[in-house]
Order: sequence, then structure tokens, then C-alpha cells
Amino acid sequence: MAPDVVPTAAKLRHRLAARLADDGWLRSPAWRAAVEAVPRHEFVRCFYRETDTPGLTAWTPVTAGLCGFDEWLRQAYADETLVTQFDGQETDWNDPKPISGAHPTSSSTLPALVVHMLEELQVDDGTTVMEIGTGTGYSTALMCHRLGPDRVTSIETDPHVAARARHALDRCGYAPRLLVGDGLAGDPEGAAYDRTIATCGVRHVPYTWVRQTRPGGLVLATLRGWMRSLGLVRLTVDREGRAEGRFIDSDSSFVIARQHDAPASLGVIPAPDDGTSRRTPYGPDVLTSAGTGFMAQLALPGARFFSLPADDGTPRTYVLDATSASFAVLTPKSDDDWNVRQGGPVALWDMLENALDTWHAADCPVPTEFGVTVTGKSQRVWLGAPDGPCWRLPAFLSPSGL
Ligand SMILES: C[S@@+](CC[C@H](N)C(=O)[O-])C[C@H]1O[C@@H](n2cnc3c(N)ncnc32)[C@H](O)[C@@H]1O
Repeated sequence: MAPDVVPTAAKLRHRLAARLADDGWLRSPAWRAAVEAVPRHEFVRCFYRETDTPGLTAWTPVTAGLCGFDEWLRQAYADETLVTQFDGQETDWNDPKPISGAHPTSSSTLPALVVHMLEELQVDDGTTVMEIGTGTGYSTALMCHRLGPDRVTSIETDPHVAARARHALDRCGYAPRLLVGDGLAGDPEGAAYDRTIATCGVRHVPYTWVRQTRPGGLVLATLRGWMRSLGLVRLTVDREGRAEGRFIDSDSSFVIARQHDAPASLGVIPAPDDGTSRRTPYGPDVLTSAGTGFMAQLALPGARFFSLPADDGTPRTYVLDATSASFAVLTPKSDDDWNVRQGGPVALWDMLENALDTWHAADCPVPTEFGVTVTGKSQRVWLGAPDGPCWRLPAFLSPSGL
């Protein structure tokens, strides 16, 4: 390492902490001290940064060797997500190439989101934490600084990612309990923890996390689907083994847990005369707009969508649910009138319209008005209160991951 890295990094860290505090993410002195102390650059010696390319998501490799110490350090302390792995494959850092069209599978999360979650974890001195998704090890290191390494367990599913994190934590003098394996199974040996925090997104809360968090403890996780993220939830575990709580925000989004990722196949594209047609007032924008998109993800937990022009150039949006072999195809009739053609065992667009009717009847509530209840038997998202209108999460997966 160049000799002036240490003081320069310390200055950049203090600047990052000040910015996170000004933006309202970093609120407590103890977490601020952790951000000021933990050298993020040790966890992101090599990473990819997203670059602006019209119509394409592309990433450029960043190391001190490629862009110089000053620029590498500046980027290591930027409030940005730094991607460290794509498609579960390790990069050859002897000859890194720009990347496009790939799927990030590991990263050092946006520092604002990391500290937001840590603040929302509501820890005290002495709190024990189980983290799912070690990634680079940066958030693990922050927790080691705040709580002491002997109170921190972190689980990473990818052995290469886990090895890099272990080396980085070693270099910084932190020795938490690090496990390599499927974090959805938690850590039965180390349980029960005061807090469980997931830094990978999940389609439902693995019930093991509830069982391995002590009564009165908290589970903090980002729920997401295959269309979009639902947001960050904080659940309190009770003595009966139930966890309940509200969405804290709907902006948080994480790399999805590998075992919850969507199947490669979108499903079968229906033939032009498959299914039954009717008119609908809802067009494809309900799938992407903030409030309605949240409802779409709740109502259609197994669905994904894409748009393609038909032979005559008419735009068509296909909503496909590979888990139930169901489909809905939207085509425009006029400015605010659409045709939907549905088929398969589940009438997808009917499900979505019902959810949107409920949402409109409740005055278009924001995601923080929704909550989640998790038991050993079912998981549901409710509106307003636990006995309000509800939607089931896809809680019980088959061995194929569906
Ligand atoms: C966004 S990164 C974690 C960021 C990390 N906390 C940091 O500060 O660098 C998500 C990580 O979760 C890991 N992951 C995905 N599924 C997992 C699972 N089932 N169990 C444990 N880790 C998992 C990924 O391999 C990835 O490294």
C-alpha cells in the first residue's frame, strides 16, 4: 500500500461519516465512531463501479493499479454500492474487463443503507447479532467495532466471497464468528441471538431466523420479489414464536438471497389466441409506478414481466408466472383503456385489480402503512393492522426454489 493511504483514508472516512450524518442516516455517536474507524478500502480493494451507458447497465473495474491510489480511495469512500461479483463468478483481477449485461451477486452495499439498517437494528452494548450475507465484510466490521467481535456472527453462502471477507477482517484485526453456508438456515449452534439482520433480500422471512432470535429480539430484513423490492421490515419476535412488525421503508433494495432467486426460465410465452380477453383500466405502468408497483409485487409474488412489440408494432406487455404457468398479456386500446388476455390456473390480472381496488379504497397508503406477520405456518403482509386486508408471502418453497 502507498504510504499516504492511511491518513488520506482517515480523512475520507470522516468526510463520509459527516455526510451520512448530515443526510440523517447516521444518528448515534457509537455508529458514527464505527464509520470513522473501519477502513472501507480494505474491504473493496477491487470492485466494479456502475457507469452511465445509454440503454445499457455497464460496470468498470476499479483498483489502485487501474486508476491510481487517490481515485481508488476516493471511490472506496463514496456513498455508492461497489459491486464485487457478478453471476456468482469470480473476476480475474490480473486482467479485469469492463462488464455489461451481468447480474451483481455480491457487493459492498451503499454506506447510507448500511448505516440506516444498523441504526434501525436498535443495538446496545452487549447485543448479539447474526448477519446473513457477509459480502465484503464491511458491515460485519462496523458491527465488530460497535459491539465487539465476540458478539457478531456473519454467514456468507459463497465460499470465495467469504474467504475475501475473512482476509479483510483479519487485516483490520477483527475476528467475528464467520460461517460459510446457506444463511437461510441461520446458525442453530450460536442461537439465540438478540438481533438478526439480512444484507441480502428475501422473498419471505426464513422461519429459522425467527426461531434463532430470542423473544423480544428483532429481525431486520429486506423483503423483495422478482419484479421489485418491497422494502425493509423490522419484526419483533414474541414468546409464541411469532414475528411481527412494519415496513420501515420501501427504498431499500439488496441482491436477492441466491436460494430465492428467480428461475432462469420466465415461463412459456402464450400463443396469440391463448386465454380469454377483456378490457381493463390498468396498463403496464401499474407494474412500475411506486405505490401500484408495491401492490403488484404483493399480488403477484411469482410473476415477472417484459414488453415486446407485436408483428404490427403494437406494444405488448407479458406478465408471466412460471410458478403457476399463468399469464396475462396487455395491449393498448386507447390512451387509458387496455385489453388484457389471461390464461393458466391463476387469473393474474384479476388478482392485481383486486389488490389495487383495496389499495385505492384505503386512499393509496404508502408502504410504511403495511406490516408483516410471520409464524411457523404462514407469512402475510397486511395493510393497517394485523387483522386488515392481507396478502400471503411465498413462504414455503419447493426444493427447486419455487
Ligand atoms: C449485498 S451483499 C452483502 C453486503 C455486505 N453486508 C457488505 O457490507 O459488504 C449480499 C451478500 O449476500 C450473500 N448471500 C446471498 N444469499 C445468501 C445466503 N442464502 N446465505 C448467506 N449469504 C448469502 C451474497 O453472496 C452476497 O455476498
